[in-house]
Amino acid sequence: MSGMQIIRSRGELQALADAERGAGRRIALVPTMGAIHTGHLALVEEARRRADRVWVSIFVNPTQFDDPADYDGYPRSFEGDLRACREAGVDVVYAPRPEELYPPGAQTWVEVSELSKPLCGAAREGHFRGVTTVVSKLLLAAKPHVAVFGEKDFQQLALIRRMARDLGFDVEIVGAPTVREADGLARSSRNLRLGPQARKQALALVRALDGAGQAVAAGERDTVKLLAGVRGEIAKASLAEIDYAELRDPESLEPSPATLAGPALLALAVRFSPDPDGRGAEVRLIDNRVLLGL
Ligand code: PAJ
Repeated sequence: MSGMQIIRSRGELQALADAERGAGRRIALVPTMGAIHTGHLALVEEARRRADRVWVSIFVNPTQFDDPADYDGYPRSFEGDLRACREAGVDVVYAPRPEELYPPGAQTWVEVSELSKPLCGAAREGHFRGVTTVVSKLLLAAKPHVAVFGEKDFQQLALIRRMARDLGFDVEIVGAPTVREADGLARSSRNLRLGPQARKQALALVRALDGAGQAVAAGERDTVKLLAGVRGEIAKASLAEIDYAELRDPESLEPSPATLAGPALLALAVRFSPDPDGRGAEVRLIDNRVLLGL
């Protein structure tokens, strides 16, 4: 196939999906909101290993932003994104217009009722309902065999797996490991908005996860003690404020028992203030690690 196709229309995408499927080719979809970075590109590589065609969707989904200012301020870099996709060998970029995914008067939602409540769902009303709704629409438009999501957004991945299972979507949901910057900070378009001091302090998340990993390796199973260690590590960063730091079951997202007996998701969300000299913006970072994983 020559060149990368940019498709805006759902009908056109569905027709192409039917043609590819008819020819016996497998399609992998990587949903994104653009601002493509190496984390997204690792998902593209994973998609390439699992299918004949790699499709990337680029759509800043209005319904998953609880704050309109956050939606307006979300980084948009369509031309650069297209270049990155082309260089990565992406076959199709699907970039629908908002009116197509949300026709006037749209009132249909996909909601995973329980998994959407804790962690990032607690602070961000309606966020995950927006995510699962738009991912449903993207899966219906692209009809992929496989869809790839990052483990960085662990709760999102868990919700999408559950949604696909509950609704019987004919797609395999694949998780891909978190891509990190050289010093270990999880790659995110938000990292660039940290002031220089906050950027250094952001490593507190990685240290907290590492510290908990080491404690568990040394035999610690007490969740209160593990979380105290995590909080202590984050408290050393003067610009950081914990949004949540929790241990939960990686599948059900129920709180872990007082004494860990099996895999536990250590999930962190930390808010960083601008630097004291005013540089940088307020930025909320998330990261996670599965302790006692297989
Ligand atoms: P976005 O934030 O653009 O992320 C797109 C995909 O890239 C998600 O699956 C996310 O988990 C993954 N990702 C982000 N940073 C990563 C990193 N450092 N390493 C590995 N993967 C990473 O997540 C969304 O968009 C949206 O909610 C979406 C699923 C597209 C629905 O609108």
